[in-house]
Amino acid sequence: MLYSIIDALQRSAVYIDSVLKKCNFDYLDSTNSTGDSQLGVDVEANNIIKESLLELDVVKGICSEEEDEAIYKEGLNGVYLVAFDPLDGSSIVSSNLSVGSIFGIYNKEFSAKNLIASGYIVYGPRLEMVVAQDSVNHYIYNGEEWRNIGSLMLSNKGRINSPGGTQKNWSTKHKILIESLFLEGYRLRYSGGMVPDLHNLLCKGGGLFSYPSTSDAPNGKLRALFEVFPFAFIFEKAGGEAIGSIGSLNEGLSRILDLNIDSIHQSLPCFFGSNDEISRVKLAYK
Ligand code: AHG
Ligand code: MN
Ligand code: MN
Repeated sequence: MLYSIIDALQRSAVYIDSVLKKCNFDYLDSTNSTGDSQLGVDVEANNIIKESLLELDVVKGICSEEEDEAIYKEGLNGVYLVAFDPLDGSSIVSSNLSVGSIFGIYNKEFSAKNLIASGYIVYGPRLEMVVAQDSVNHYIYNGEEWRNIGSLMLSNKGRINSPGGTQKNWSTKHKILIESLFLEGYRLRYSGGMVPDLHNLLCKGGGLFSYPSTSDAPNGKLRALFEVFPFAFIFEKAGGEAIGSIGSLNEGLSRILDLNIDSIHQSLPCFFGSNDEISRVKLAYK
């Protein structure tokens, strides 16, 4: 059942990869529900994934960063809902950095507790896909077929620090946390694309990726259904952790997959990493 969804996403990935190579990186006049300007390739990638998923009998509905509302199919028996960010990293498409697509597969309801599988596609020098179910499987496309090249697992502690958000708008406690990691020898790695940045952490065994609450964006930037929940699921299945908060930070940070959202385009502050770094975040934000 789930296999047909993964298969449709793998076919979409090959198609989107070819679209990205055609050099049409112009902005349209439109914006999405979050208020982001849309590139032609944001819309094209959205249509490719949307159409390939909606034609599957097992899919009951979809929801995309580039669509205002969820789309449900009438009168069919499909049980799976798929939420996706069709093109993650729109702002770095023009400089030819790696970008991605992110997806989460939900059982009957778009809520974190109903997430049953998730993954992402990396459009980089190679076309890759990572799918988390019981474990986190890493696939590479060799021009003809997808090959599973093994599973991704995090160490207890890493060496990479990927801090998002505008630094001048960080809270004092966040500044102290990020600085303490650098003082210990963590290396800065931040491309501006959540997919390549988190893929780097997963491939190198760990570290910390953060997109905190800031004075200009109290709810962070990254969206729950399309970005944060799928990666939280992946990090947990890879032996790491993901924490964040909805609403006031005074209540502290909690496991992301226990959080409830009020709207499909909601964003939240979030932290993904290995166990050691996440314990440090909890301590810093206590
Ligand atoms: P999208 O292209 O889907 O709008 O997402 C971009 C996101 C994410 O990929 C990345 O981590 C973050 O924006 C970068 O934001 P900053 O430029 O504020 O660092
Ligand atoms: Mn994104
Ligand atoms: Mn996007």
